[in-house]
Amino acid sequence: MLNFEYRNPTKILFGKGQIANLAKEIPSGAKLLMLYGGGSIKQNGIYDQVKAALQNFTVLEFGGIPANPEYEVLLKALKVIKEEKIDFMLAVGGGSVIDGVKFLSAAALYEGDSPWDILSQRIVTKKGLPFGTVLTLPATASEMNSGAVISRQETQEKFSMGGPGLFPQFSVLDPQVVASIPKRQLANGITDAFTHVLEQYMTYPIGALLQDRIAESIMQTLVEVAPKVIKDPSDYEAAANFMWSCTMALNGLIQKGVPTDWAVHAMGHELTALFGIDHARTLAIITPSHYRYNFNSKKEKLAQYAERIWNVTSGTMEEKANAAIKATEDFFHSLEIDTRLSAYTGEFPGTAQVISRKFTERGWNGIGERKALTPADVEKIVEMSY
Ligand code: NZQ
Ligand code: ZN
Repeated sequence: MLNFEYRNPTKILFGKGQIANLAKEIPSGAKLLMLYGGGSIKQNGIYDQVKAALQNFTVLEFGGIPANPEYEVLLKALKVIKEEKIDFMLAVGGGSVIDGVKFLSAAALYEGDSPWDILSQRIVTKKGLPFGTVLTLPATASEMNSGAVISRQETQEKFSMGGPGLFPQFSVLDPQVVASIPKRQLANGITDAFTHVLEQYMTYPIGALLQDRIAESIMQTLVEVAPKVIKDPSDYEAAANFMWSCTMALNGLIQKGVPTDWAVHAMGHELTALFGIDHARTLAIITPSHYRYNFNSKKEKLAQYAERIWNVTSGTMEEKANAAIKATEDFFHSLEIDTRLSAYTGEFPGTAQVISRKFTERGWNGIGERKALTPADVEKIVEMSY
């Protein structure tokens, strides 16, 4: 097992009715900015619940943060934060709203020339403007981690950022919010969380037995509850297990002491930046090709995953590893998620070259758990995903 340090300061309020308890987590007298997305919270009652909980605060609002939070929109919110001297933010939404608020948390205290530098120069945020979240869509675990991903249409870029100053102070996780989520977003959430576990697991054996078992139990739980959540998102027990699995998949715990990959996300983000494909679907497109291309370096963990998640007990290590890739594809298909790029874009020759060139320009010369995948490898993996 590798050395590690672990700290996660986010307080979780989990369960039915917890939105009503959020006021006690916010400093009294705070001037509050509540931020949300395209308006789903006004239809499903979450907006009203949050407003009722905040009745003793001065609350300003900023709505309209789009999926794949857009830099230009966030700059408008930043102006409000500065002009109104906001001292606490509340994100009410999915990963996009929460990530947008994390960017604002960093940008509000950033003293450099342009807040885009935080993303393009990967500036680590040690201190941000404090914020909490009310999660409305289980998927990213942004509610309990310190990372964010921000898009910029103007330059077709989608970059990550983060730092120890960007953990939410608290997050409210009421599984009842799952009831109003459309099927497409439920499938996305399951796929994103499942792939988060894979990114931290599907590398090479390092003797971290507990991390492996925790990762496997998250995947097993997602596989078990996926059909139930899709069939009936108001099934509270299924929703609660789905929600907590998504949070646990990327709150930092399972990546401690183990190598991590994240190449699938790096390539997937480019597909969203170029074509606007939903984040989770880009992962389903890249994952099978990535594992086939890197078969030799990942086959031991692929075989372990085949045995423990998909109950593949016979065959050689290679046969089990191949069966694992096929089972993963089948799982995505069972959620009605296509795993070929052409299903989303039609014929689009040159995509792999564009992505590989971007990696070269940015100096991303070695990605994956061994930092060994070059832009030429990326080109081949994306090509295999057509
Ligand atoms: O905008 P509104 O109207 O609220 O509608 C949203 C949005 O259209 C809707 N929705 C959310 N909660 C709902 C609901 N509709 C009905 N009922 C509810 N309760 O769902 C749509 C998608 O929301 P979004 O926040 O975009 O989805 P998700 O949570 O999947 O977030 C995706 C973003 O997170 C980033 C992705 O790259 C992408 O930009 N990620 C963030 C990570 C992190 N911070 O750790 C890690 C991930 O790998 C990921 O990259
Ligand atoms: Zn993801």
